[in-house]
Amino acid sequence: MPALVLLGAQWGDEGKGKATDLLGGSVDYVVRYQGGNNAGHTVVVGDQKYALHLLPSGILSPGCTPVIGNGVVVDPSVLLSELSGLNERGVDTSKLLLSGNAHIITPYNVTVDKVTERFLGKRKIGTTGRGIGPTYADKINRVGIRVQDLYDESILTQKVEAALDVKNQVLTKLYNRRAIAVDQVVEELLGYADKLAPYVADTVLVLNQALEEEKVVLFEGGQGTLLDIDHGTYPFVTSSNPTAGGACTGAGVGPTKISRVIGILKAYTTRVGAGPFPTELFDEDGEALRRIGGERGVTTGRDRRCGWFDAVIARYATRVNGLTDFFLTKLDVLTGWEQIPVCVAYEIDGKRVEELPYSQTDFHHAKPVYEMLPGWSEDISKAKSFSDLPKNAQAYVKALEEMSGAPISAIGVGPGRDETIEINSFL
Ligand code: GDP
Ligand code: IMO
Ligand code: MG
Repeated sequence: MPALVLLGAQWGDEGKGKATDLLGGSVDYVVRYQGGNNAGHTVVVGDQKYALHLLPSGILSPGCTPVIGNGVVVDPSVLLSELSGLNERGVDTSKLLLSGNAHIITPYNVTVDKVTERFLGKRKIGTTGRGIGPTYADKINRVGIRVQDLYDESILTQKVEAALDVKNQVLTKLYNRRAIAVDQVVEELLGYADKLAPYVADTVLVLNQALEEEKVVLFEGGQGTLLDIDHGTYPFVTSSNPTAGGACTGAGVGPTKISRVIGILKAYTTRVGAGPFPTELFDEDGEALRRIGGERGVTTGRDRRCGWFDAVIARYATRVNGLTDFFLTKLDVLTGWEQIPVCVAYEIDGKRVEELPYSQTDFHHAKPVYEMLPGWSEDISKAKSFSDLPKNAQAYVKALEEMSGAPISAIGVGPGRDETIEINSFL
């Protein structure tokens, strides 16, 4: 069966870019289905490092067609500069397909994102400031601008007028900012039309036809399960559905077509931005994870918050996504600890809780219950098979698998394409 979803099982930055790139050589299409340039996916090929924000990581595999689906929000200037950056490095991007139904992040959406965060003060979400939330809000409010609108000036002008009508009132009267001129926005957006035209396509039709022809399609999530607008730690989330169902709506493919759902799971936990994080560390262990793991945001350059592995979250990710497999990443980062704490449950107001509480209040009160697992000191970055790993590293992986509820089918032992142990084939 040819349709796979690959998504983050925690709060993002699990290593989705590397995992997608690894499979890219064997799949026909890689599709982004939600989010926008809030994502930062790092791919290391040989001695070359690529940071992708909007483009699917499959763009680096020559045989693969990268697709930006209808569920993605697209900042045209970011897309064009990402494409030209790759072209300068010799990457052929001509196969890219962009859904005409994808919504556009306009300059005013970026302004509203930044102004709103500033206005929230202490209560801010810590967004990436890329206009993601306001663009999805316009989409739901039915005042969004879609890629296809760039090809009808009259419709575009009417839609920008409608979108700015209320926003300009809010910007001038509430936030004390200057009003945004409709003409200027329309002119800027029209300036992208010809440059984007070669990529615009009916991606829903293309993908469904590809699946009928038994082509292999990989859906690559941005962000992670706990940042999902419905299933994450609301309101400290992003404004779309990275969870598996989002692949169906965000690409226009029915759930019966999805054969496998792979959760990318870091061997410890990180988070960027505000919100609860039960296993967060504020001591030298947290500092060491950040340093050894290189835990600094690809998009905003912010330090990532770091903590131990949380099995409650992994179990939750298995459930809400119907995960069939895990890809465990960054196991190498844990080399050198004598003992590694793993959160197996929470204590909430004196009670042991095994599953993620649905109540925000309870989650804010959750304290991790740790089990200590023995560590290892051998370098594992050259390991090619599971049996190459030291016994304690094997036991760590097995323990995580047991706690998390789905088989670990691959293990990352370094950032490079070949620094991966494959246990079960994904295809
Ligand atoms: P994404 O947003 O999920 O694609 O992840 P990011 O690219 O934001 O962050 C993951 C980071 O970990 C990147 O710097 C990757 O190059 C790196 N990485 C991925 N897998 C591994 C691994 O198994 N070991 C190590 N040491 N680094 C990894
Ligand atoms: P990748 O794909 C980690 C976080 C932001 C903020 C919240 C909302 O690299 O895993 P937004 O700008 O989306 O409205 O911000 O979501 N966030 C991410 N954190 N990795 C990401 O992407 C993220 N994309 C958004 O830090 O807390
Ligand atoms: Mg990232």
